[in-house]
Amino acid sequence: MRDIIAELEERRRVARMGGGEERIAAQHAKGKLTARERINLLLDPDSFEEIDMFVEHNCHEFGMEEQKIPGDGVVTGWGTVNGRPIYVFAKDFTVFGGSLSRAHANKINKVQDMALRNRMPIVGILDSGGARIQEGVDALGGYADVFQRNTLASGVIPQISVIMGPCAGGDVYSPALTDFIFMVRGTSYMFVTGPDVVKTVTNEEVSAEELGGAKIHTSKSSVADGAYDNDIELLSDLRRFIDFLPLCNKVGSPERPAYDAHDRVEESLDTLIPDNPNMPYDMLELVEKVVDENDFFEIQKDFAKNIIVGFGRIEGRTTGFVANQPLTLAGVLDSDASRKAARFVRFCDCFDIPIVSFVDVPGFLPGTAQEYGGLIKHGAKLLFAYAEATTPKVTIITRKAYGGAYDVMASKHLRGDVNYAWPTAEIAVMGAKGAVEIIFRSAIGDEEALAKHTQDYEEKFLNPFVAAERGYIDEVIQPHNTRRRISRALALLRNKNMENPWKKHGNIPL
Ligand code: HXC
Repeated sequence: MRDIIAELEERRRVARMGGGEERIAAQHAKGKLTARERINLLLDPDSFEEIDMFVEHNCHEFGMEEQKIPGDGVVTGWGTVNGRPIYVFAKDFTVFGGSLSRAHANKINKVQDMALRNRMPIVGILDSGGARIQEGVDALGGYADVFQRNTLASGVIPQISVIMGPCAGGDVYSPALTDFIFMVRGTSYMFVTGPDVVKTVTNEEVSAEELGGAKIHTSKSSVADGAYDNDIELLSDLRRFIDFLPLCNKVGSPERPAYDAHDRVEESLDTLIPDNPNMPYDMLELVEKVVDENDFFEIQKDFAKNIIVGFGRIEGRTTGFVANQPLTLAGVLDSDASRKAARFVRFCDCFDIPIVSFVDVPGFLPGTAQEYGGLIKHGAKLLFAYAEATTPKVTIITRKAYGGAYDVMASKHLRGDVNYAWPTAEIAVMGAKGAVEIIFRSAIGDEEALAKHTQDYEEKFLNPFVAAERGYIDEVIQPHNTRRRISRALALLRNKNMENPWKKHGNIPL
């Protein structure tokens, strides 16, 4: 008996060494941790239960039968993050470069199936050379099996991808199907085809970093949601992020004890809006002053900065925030901002996370660049996302809500549950100058007449009261009471029960 127990320990020790000391040292020399080190940092101490540690590949080509390493390049199992369970898989780059074989795919599929069946989030940590070249179509099929499960689990359990090394071919499409992607600067890359193939096909010379590094994907392509300086920083912030997420789509927004008074008054908000309506201010200040303990987790903060999206808590309960940011492009809605916010709104709605929208938007961005780029379709994504969302929606207009953007930003007409405006709100088809030049075209050149018409227009329309008279705004509120108003509104909406008509699925303008 003792011998067998000793043999088990020896087998475990060998499996835990992955590709061996030399390759582990090479991994560390690149500034990267190993798969098991990463899992240990992500999960609570001693909570990891590894499964399939002894799985080996079954390939007999190119001498592979001589090279078998237990685990076959991916570490899988489950554990807890601050006491809440998650499933996890982490590619082990020290074993065949973390490449995906049939057996490797089976291991990932197993934890994907278990996560879905048990309704728990899943985190994938990727660091891999892609399809195991020696396995051919078995590897391709293995990827498709991962993709199929990603798609079925979408909207049922949160899925998060962490990119901590090279990721090419099959390894980029699984992350793209998940809810959130986080990357490490300098050591992680994502591309469908790498720099060598790019050079052959298009003759472009580009480095891996320029083609698919963290900076590119968080600021240009918007493929990734956040970037960190190293593995440790990323994994510790990921623990904080997971705390905001529900386990699945049936349990509602997660709650934890709150130590911030729901009726905390923020006098400074009464002076947030500058006297000059064309002066910007920082909308992030409002978001941070409203959420519990100023704890806000921003998503995609380096992309489409004219809109802010992210998670905070109100009275301990996770809440999604969408806010136009006047500091960038005056907070206008363009294609990028619309896509970014639409995806976030849909994530919140999948998991019944309430959405609070702060509105200060001068409209959609005009111009050929936007129109040729499909602004109509991209803007419609946000419109569709808000319109179909049945999760509680609370909207606060702080200043401008002009034109179609007024409609889009969770207006009453799109089933906003509670719609408030600050006294500084301006709800109109457009700003005064543009409006007067259209409806009083004959007065152009007559500065005095134009000034008079502008003043009339401003007095009549650039306020919240016309909308409030019609019930499109439920109440005009004092800025300093914004947190209290939102907390009370969300408390009121706790049992909201709304269903859309039955359908197989909608057809969001993709
Ligand atoms: C088998 C692989 C491998 C692969 C790497 N290795 N990629 N083994 N299949 N795809 C092995 C290497 O042989 C090496 O083994 C070890 O992993 C480390 O690789 P190195 O090249 O030494 O490391 P590094 O210099 O850091 O380069 C990493 C890399 C490079 C950039 C990922 O290995 C690479 O370009 N690999 C191939 C990438 C690729 O084209 N994959 C196919 C994508 S197509 P030893 O024994 O020496 O340690 C795809 C199709 C799916 O995925 C499509 C589905 C939609």
